[in-house]
Amino acid sequence: MKRTKSLSMLALATATALTLAACGGGGNAEGDSGDGDAAAPAEGGQALRLALNQTEEHPSFIALDNFGQRLEQATEGRWSIDVYPNETLGAQQEALQLVSDGTVDMAIVSGTQLENLNEDFLVFNLPKVFDDVEHQMSVIHDEEIVGDLYSSLEESNNLTVLGGFTQGARSVYTTFGPVESPDDLAGKKLRVQESDLHIAMAEAMGASATPMAFGELYTGLQSGVVDAAENNEVSYWTQKHYEVAPHWSYTNHLVGLDYLIINSDLLSGMSEEDRAVFDEEWTAAHEEHTELWTTATEDAIAQAEAGGATFTEVDEEAFDAVLEPLADQFISNESQQALYDAARAAAAK
Ligand code: GCU
Repeated sequence: MKRTKSLSMLALATATALTLAACGGGGNAEGDSGDGDAAAPAEGGQALRLALNQTEEHPSFIALDNFGQRLEQATEGRWSIDVYPNETLGAQQEALQLVSDGTVDMAIVSGTQLENLNEDFLVFNLPKVFDDVEHQMSVIHDEEIVGDLYSSLEESNNLTVLGGFTQGARSVYTTFGPVESPDDLAGKKLRVQESDLHIAMAEAMGASATPMAFGELYTGLQSGVVDAAENNEVSYWTQKHYEVAPHWSYTNHLVGLDYLIINSDLLSGMSEEDRAVFDEEWTAAHEEHTELWTTATEDAIAQAEAGGATFTEVDEEAFDAVLEPLADQFISNESQQALYDAARAAAAK
């Protein structure tokens, strides 16, 4: 299941990370309090470098930056977090590898990236597995449901999953006009994240799927390499995709999920006392993120509309009908089935 990385890509991303570290942070770096020193013994504390692919306006940046500031205060400066936004430390596939290597300490990666390391993660990337953000957050922070899943990459990849941020409901947006039913996507190239499940999802929705890194998408839409994409309103606005793909259609096909990952060796080197503070502040961070999400979504819609975007309802039943078979198609072992059943049981509560 492990994805083999191209060495040249990795070398490039590593070089970028190291250059940034040597410069004491890149042009876009924010947060910054400590002097990042990757060689410092973990127990004593350090400025943790965190890779993010969103802008500074995005709720994920804001919640993580606040997390870092609270952590620094509560540990009397021993631990802090420097959040590097805008893929400065590499796109998510590279960031994942860099955290595994210990070159970067933490990253936010989409669930689709973890599905490529352990197929059990794909359960939470399925369309319709979560009814809404509240349901999703209750499942993905329930230790009984996710405990084994989140530690499953420690031996194989030196990665620990700490929990997640919602990506909200994802919908389709296009360069060519509104989409009412899957028929309207026939022959159109729809960008998806790098995931077999999401390739199948795009095809089920009638499109031809083009996997692509997030940071390449604006140009991809602008140049016609792809005709459409799918995301939440917040990224649609903060990435300025509405400028080149102004037709948003509410397919609401998926409540997406981002994870916070950390290098496992680093985490296990933290003193017990600091680890307790770290966990507490991380809980406060994902709670703050969920709170910010609703307002950020409303603001994003208003801003994108002011910029010329249109938001259209779709025939949701037509989309539901083509998406429903994906769960049966992709769930292939008992642990996936158990995760799926636990998630659906929590929806009924
Ligand atoms: C969302 C999500 C990112 C992800 C992106 C994508 O914005 O928060 O983690 O990379 O979608 O579609 O690639």
